[in-house]
Amino acid sequence: MAESMKGLKRSHRCAELSEANIGEKVTLMGWVQKSRNKGGIIFLDLRDRSGLVQIIFEQSEEAKDNYIDAAGFEKAEKLRSEFVIAVTGKVEKRGGAENPNLKTGTIEVRATDLRILSEAETPPFPIEADSKTKEELRLKYRYLDLRRPDIQHNLMFRSDVTKSVRNFLYEEGFLEIETPILNRSTPEGARDYLVPSRVHPGNFYALPQSPQLFKQLLMCSGYDRYFQIAKCFRDEDLRADRQPEFTQIDMELSFVDVDDVIDVNERLIQKLFKDCLNVEVSLPMQRITWQEAMDRFGSDKPDVRFGMELKDVSETVADCEFVVFKSALENGGSVRGINAKGQAEMPRKKIDALVEFAKGFGAKGLAYLAVMPDGSYKSSFAKFLTEEQLERLVKAMEGEKGDLLLFAADKNKVVWDVLGNLRLEIARNLDLLKKDDYRFLWVTEFPLLEWDEEEERFVAMHHPFTMPMEEDLPLLDTDPGKVRAKAYDCVLNGVELGGGSVRIYQSDVQEKMFEKLGITKEDAYEKFGFLLQAFKYGVPPHAGLAFGLDRLIMLMVQADNIREVIAFPKVKDASCLMSEAPNVVDPKQLEELEIAITAKNEDE
Ligand code: AMO
Ligand code: AMP
Repeated sequence: MAESMKGLKRSHRCAELSEANIGEKVTLMGWVQKSRNKGGIIFLDLRDRSGLVQIIFEQSEEAKDNYIDAAGFEKAEKLRSEFVIAVTGKVEKRGGAENPNLKTGTIEVRATDLRILSEAETPPFPIEADSKTKEELRLKYRYLDLRRPDIQHNLMFRSDVTKSVRNFLYEEGFLEIETPILNRSTPEGARDYLVPSRVHPGNFYALPQSPQLFKQLLMCSGYDRYFQIAKCFRDEDLRADRQPEFTQIDMELSFVDVDDVIDVNERLIQKLFKDCLNVEVSLPMQRITWQEAMDRFGSDKPDVRFGMELKDVSETVADCEFVVFKSALENGGSVRGINAKGQAEMPRKKIDALVEFAKGFGAKGLAYLAVMPDGSYKSSFAKFLTEEQLERLVKAMEGEKGDLLLFAADKNKVVWDVLGNLRLEIARNLDLLKKDDYRFLWVTEFPLLEWDEEEERFVAMHHPFTMPMEEDLPLLDTDPGKVRAKAYDCVLNGVELGGGSVRIYQSDVQEKMFEKLGITKEDAYEKFGFLLQAFKYGVPPHAGLAFGLDRLIMLMVQADNIREVIAFPKVKDASCLMSEAPNVVDPKQLEELEIAITAKNEDE
């Protein structure tokens, strides 16, 4: 039985009520959180997106007008969790125990009228905060999961942040312009999602990996400051901070250089944290070059909430006979270490676990040296070094009694990756990472090109439209791997929040860039000729950046997973557990598209 809400109008949301409303007649609409029948009196928690308020159903012969009638009470006895109801009643100071955990814990609403707008089956899991329910079940019934207060908080918070972003960027003279979803592929590096065309059989649109080319074209067209809250699609392997479709705060500016982009974005972040979290972010943010980030933290997205920085001890151990160190150095690699302060007495089992962890990042092993409290050494390699060499090594690592020194020897790339990750693992084990400690930094001067071992060619580290640093331009011909780019990433607590670059706007530089990437002129014109063509008609110097909105929100609400801040996320295999997308389509649709399926159905 579903009653109509005819003649009723909601006056408040549940948790908008306070002692200031005492004595007022109100009408509330929402979901039954729970209901307790104490015989003759029913206490009910009513929920909507604002929170809960307690409703009381009680009959009274003397004061009928202020109490529920017999028919109403009978109806109230039928209420179960998740029924949708409308209640009219009077706000009162709580007669019974106050609830300090509830925003509305000192008041209650004494019902005079009740309508059941919709009944509900028992949900497959309780609608409550801090759910213990398995994520798969939550995602299958996402529409129920979204009723839970912590997810509701995340999505409402996300809405606040988006509003704050818009306000700030409008104030700064940015225009919000939409770019198409059905595109040609943009060269962002990930795999494209393709959409077949019915009108052009055999042809496909690509969903945008980012609005990169279009925002550059908007600069060519004179819109000088553009932004968009843009949906992006990338068919890549998913992780805790990656989704196949995600949202960027995307922007592009004309007549600017690195400092201008960084400046406006620092102030944007400062405002978001102030407006939405009341956290002060002090400016300017720390800036370090890519080289320094790798040398000190072994990562281009360093977590600077703790020290344990990498030290290059290649020179210190150059004369050692330990083959592991020796061969790494002979092969052009390095020996580097980290100092886990006060961890000398870490049990052997835990050290072994760290060695296994390191191997997961490509290490052949992990050499350790514990400086015991009595000054003796416990080590996996001390026997290969002289006393003097050991002392020198400990000194270079600023090792003191009680410290555990860990070393990796290999090609630089492996050493950085191993120690960079090891440093994080140890910090996690020691509980050094506080989620409410927000440490921002900019990583600048990224390499322009990166050698792809598999393809045996250079690929763009950011994208092919990124400007080389002027002073490195001559190196493009002589030593392309050494060229630094005018690219920058904004990093928060070890997560890449956003990235961008100054763009190439000179056709000779762009052509040289394509040449280095092994893209022929014909290829380039075939793929993004419209951009190159546009540049011929007057192009302003321009630069831009995009933040990952989902990642930003994830860090702001201190969630462990990006799925907690997206209304309808996908799981690891890029499917939606609720709608069961992707799925087969009607054969007629395929026929119209002139598409034949060659994939074997897994069930067959
Ligand atoms: P980039 O590829 O670095 O740059 O992306 C910018 C930011 O988007 C976020 N991000 C993601 N978030 C969730 N899931 C994903 N799969 C995912 N991939 C990226 C990250 C990242 O920092 N067009 C350029 C920007 C520019 O040069 O202006 C671009 O897309 O937080
Ligand atoms: P081995 O002589 O192979 O037993 O190695 C001695 C120690 O060096 C062990 O603790 C190994 O884990 C460690 N080791 C091996 N390869 C490396 C490497 N590439 N970098 C650092 N330590 C290593």
